Amino acid sequence: MAGPKGTYDVLPGTPFGASSSVREALLAPARLAGYAYAEAPVFESTELFSRGVGESTDVVTKEMFTFADRADRSLTLRPEGTVGVLRAALDAGLHKGQLPVKLRYAGPMFRAERPQAGRYRQFQQVGLEALGVDDPALDAEVVALGWQAYAELGLRQVRLQLTSLGDARCRPAYRAALAAHLTGLDLDEDTRRRAQLNPLRVLDDKRPEVQAQLADAPLMVDALCDPCRDHLTAVTDGLAALGVPYEPAPRLVRGLDYYMRTTFEYVHDGLGAQTAVGGGGRYDGLSEAIGGPPLPGIGWALGVERTMLALAAEDVPAPQEPGLAVFVVPLGAAAKARSVGLVGDLRRAGIAADLAYGDRGMKGAMRAADRSGAAYAVVLGDRDLDAGEVQLKDLRAHAQVAVPLEGLVRHLSADDTGGTQ
Ligand code: HAM
Repeated sequence: MAGPKGTYDVLPGTPFGASSSVREALLAPARLAGYAYAEAPVFESTELFSRGVGESTDVVTKEMFTFADRADRSLTLRPEGTVGVLRAALDAGLHKGQLPVKLRYAGPMFRAERPQAGRYRQFQQVGLEALGVDDPALDAEVVALGWQAYAELGLRQVRLQLTSLGDARCRPAYRAALAAHLTGLDLDEDTRRRAQLNPLRVLDDKRPEVQAQLADAPLMVDALCDPCRDHLTAVTDGLAALGVPYEPAPRLVRGLDYYMRTTFEYVHDGLGAQTAVGGGGRYDGLSEAIGGPPLPGIGWALGVERTMLALAAEDVPAPQEPGLAVFVVPLGAAAKARSVGLVGDLRRAGIAADLAYGDRGMKGAMRAADRSGAAYAVVLGDRDLDAGEVQLKDLRAHAQVAVPLEGLVRHLSADDTGGTQ
């Protein structure tokens, strides 16, 4: 019985079985840069997303999972994390304290998109947001932390595309110029309608016949006001100082409406139809759009599944949770009773340990030990118990030694040949 369309299960041995380790690895650089852990609800009022993400976006018009609660309030499963994290930070008054407020998060997001490889209806993001400071050095930090996240996982083919979308001073005039340019082109009805809603979105049209007509379209980067241009230069200088290479992407259009100035995407060519593994940008007007005070912000979100598909495409193993160190095999009732306490002692000492449950006999239990992936089996028979020792089997070297029962935890803690953590 499969789950709903566009969903998948995380279980050992499944394609996204290692996603918890990947989430943790992706957020490790942000943790080291002072981004504190945050969680906001998985559902929020529908209005929060329509105002925050934007009425003209595909996300709001076509992709939200919206439902009424029992009091007939309209709620929506979060399609992204930024709006909810910002709402939570404002609600808690964090913006009145030390700035920037630096937050990181991880969790499922929901978009009713047409499912395909790398595109799901429930998918996982990790993200970070830096609130309250408009400083291009912070933009550079944010962009670099995403870059570092992929690099530390071992990915070598991620590219960073970056541009500026201008601000309230320079974008309206640019938007009007682009709209005027588009009216002169031979575009189908649907595209015209999109151009009216948001002409920038047409720039992102992948169809060659549309792209051919867009060769001479005006570009935002050529129309930036001086402060926006200076900001962009300072960001790229900061990236150079951090050793992060980027590609200018003057036609980059994001699927969410809240962006201004610095806007970027991390792309990977090994994923088939989807190329964006992560993306983000500055959103200085978002707080006001959702009813908050003026508060600048910048952040990103990285797609966990697409990151894992990129790892597979580059043949880089995903980080794994540390496995079992010890598998205890009791033989006989008295040994079983003692083994239950023994695995407890091992675990309290920080040694990952499991026990052969189900009284399968020596052969079945040893097979279970082999399959468990543990470095050692500890075999404890009733005779061993009388002698006060256990048989410690190194399952990789196939060697066996007798170790005093009471000294086992100390013996394994001191062991540095693998297995203990
Ligand atoms: P986004 O570009 O919409 O940005 O999503 C970020 C990443 O989530 C994408 O690059 C992709 O890897 C992944 N993703 C999006 N939709 C799907 C899907 N249907 N299936 C699988 N993966 C998907 C945001 O969500 C912004 N909140 C990022 C941000 C944070 N901007 C500022 N702060």
